[in-house]
Amino acid sequence: MSNNVGRVKFIAANWKMNILTAKEGSDIDFIEQQYLNIVDKAFTEKNKQKECEVVIFPPHTHIGLLNAFNESNMFVGSQDISIHEKGAYTGEVSSECLVDIGATHVLVGHSERRQNHKESHSDVCKKAIQAINAKMGAVICIGETAEQKKAGKTIEVLTKQIDLSLPSIATAENIVLAYEPIWAIGTGEVLTPVLIDEIHKKLRYYIGEKKGKPFAENLRIIYGGSVKPSNAKEILCLDNVDGTLVGGASLQASDFAKIITEA
Ligand code: PGA
Repeated sequence: MSNNVGRVKFIAANWKMNILTAKEGSDIDFIEQQYLNIVDKAFTEKNKQKECEVVIFPPHTHIGLLNAFNESNMFVGSQDISIHEKGAYTGEVSSECLVDIGATHVLVGHSERRQNHKESHSDVCKKAIQAINAKMGAVICIGETAEQKKAGKTIEVLTKQIDLSLPSIATAENIVLAYEPIWAIGTGEVLTPVLIDEIHKKLRYYIGEKKGKPFAENLRIIYGGSVKPSNAKEILCLDNVDGTLVGGASLQASDFAKIITEA
């Protein structure tokens, strides 16, 4: 199973806990408007609207702001979601709040949340369910540590994460699977294109065995971890890669725009 014919590319910007730095005298709204204009230009000029979906994941506080500027097919998503529907959960943000402010997608299971916030596979699965039930797309992240890679356990770790993090209500339409080797996030290290394609192919095969061939053939499996303008092309042209999740390089509009044009 390979060949990404028919799978629309999914290009995501994960701003993490950063906002775009405003130069003295210019306000943040203006800076973000500029960002969207640059990204939108790349998107429109290359007629990418037909070929790819672009989602920006800003901090929660900026979802509404970006959504208000959104005049194209670019979407705005949330970096997290509560496992609860509503109620006395101070500091948490529910699917209802996110939909209300314009979020269309949610990132779940990012390694920074799995590691720093001790999110379990079950939490990740519950969060994906909350997103899907609210008709948002869930971008479910998986990835192995450097130690697991060294011990030759990459596929074992990833398939376990797939088993326990993907909810039974997942379909190829309501989720995107993001493979991000943890050792590659923010480090400048990237897997070789051959290995990226090989791992994505194995994951697609595994999902096909579990959920059926049509699910696997239509599922978008994207790659993340130090993706930047200089390596985007060789990653995005791989048969089994259906997009990218971009952290650091998404903070510069011109870099992110370049990645979109390579999709
Ligand atoms: P990076 O982050 O592109 O800065 O490596 C990717 C991510 O954490 O999603």
